[in-house]
Amino acid sequence: MELSQIEKDFLKEIEKVESLEELQTLKVKYLGRKGALTQILRSLKELSLEERRKIGKEANLLKEKMEKLFLEKEKILKEIEERKKLEREKVDLTCPGKKISLGHLHPLSLVLREIKEIFRRMGFEVVEGPEIETCFYNFDALNVPEDHPARDLWSTLWLEKNYLLRTHTSPVQVRYLEKHQPPFRIIAPGRVFRHERTDAHHEIQFYQVEGLMVGKDVSLANFKAVILHFFKEFFKEKVEIRLRPSYFPFTEPSVEVDIRLSAKRKAQSAKEGEWLEVMGAGMVHPKVFEAARLNPLRWQGFAFGVGVDRLAMIKYKIPDIRLFYQGDLRFIRQF
Ligand code: DAH
Repeated sequence: MELSQIEKDFLKEIEKVESLEELQTLKVKYLGRKGALTQILRSLKELSLEERRKIGKEANLLKEKMEKLFLEKEKILKEIEERKKLEREKVDLTCPGKKISLGHLHPLSLVLREIKEIFRRMGFEVVEGPEIETCFYNFDALNVPEDHPARDLWSTLWLEKNYLLRTHTSPVQVRYLEKHQPPFRIIAPGRVFRHERTDAHHEIQFYQVEGLMVGKDVSLANFKAVILHFFKEFFKEKVEIRLRPSYFPFTEPSVEVDIRLSAKRKAQSAKEGEWLEVMGAGMVHPKVFEAARLNPLRWQGFAFGVGVDRLAMIKYKIPDIRLFYQGDLRFIRQF
């Protein structure tokens, strides 16, 4: 083959090369052991001296030219590939970061924290009692004897022997009275259990906060002041309260507390009646002091029990108590 033809073909082909791989193939094709140019160089010995000189020189020049072009092309291709690689690995530093999900507090936890904080500011200590109770603390010491109809006020989940799931937080009153000398003021938040059919307002478990303030002359007037302040802080507005006579075995007299929120808030929850029933309370019954071996002639005080779920439902306008316990993230994420 003519050298000029080889050169022409080569120039056309190298023009089209797009990758280092292709370039290598082309190199073999022209400069490899069986390459077009190599064959010419090899066949020189069959030519006359004159031709050998002439063609040999041209062939070598072409070889040098090719090698130079190969090197140049290689450099260009390497640069292109490097640029492509950078493009693939590109990081956009202006992209906003991925948000780390930390989780957050359940509405009942939020409300419980707030309640504790408000009472702490009024000098109340926060104490706890067990969820599994004995008959003594849950009933007897609270002046609810066995076989007394008042026991039916709490549909109890019984465990083995003498044990039960506490039906209210009131037993913490007795536990605390047994071990502490008045005067004191405490609240006892916690979970309670009832053997009940569930509906929008009843669950087999819910939360209460028990309150107890004992001293030489603690009265229902003190109770009104404390509780009025609590509701004002909790709902962050002026709240009216109303005490209605009621009955609890562990208080005498006993009252039920109703609250009335501002017209603004009422309008938002039209279904609720004017007055909302929120807690039971009263003056601690002498029998309760006696059960804890304290002298009822020396000490007196008020106690109350409030449903945390109910307060949360009013505050956040939640229509169904069961929502708190279903673990549905669509609900929980709203708080
Ligand atoms: N323990 C009562 C209940 O669960 C609520 C209650 C009423 C608690 C009056 C009190 C109280 O401390 O004085 O129904």
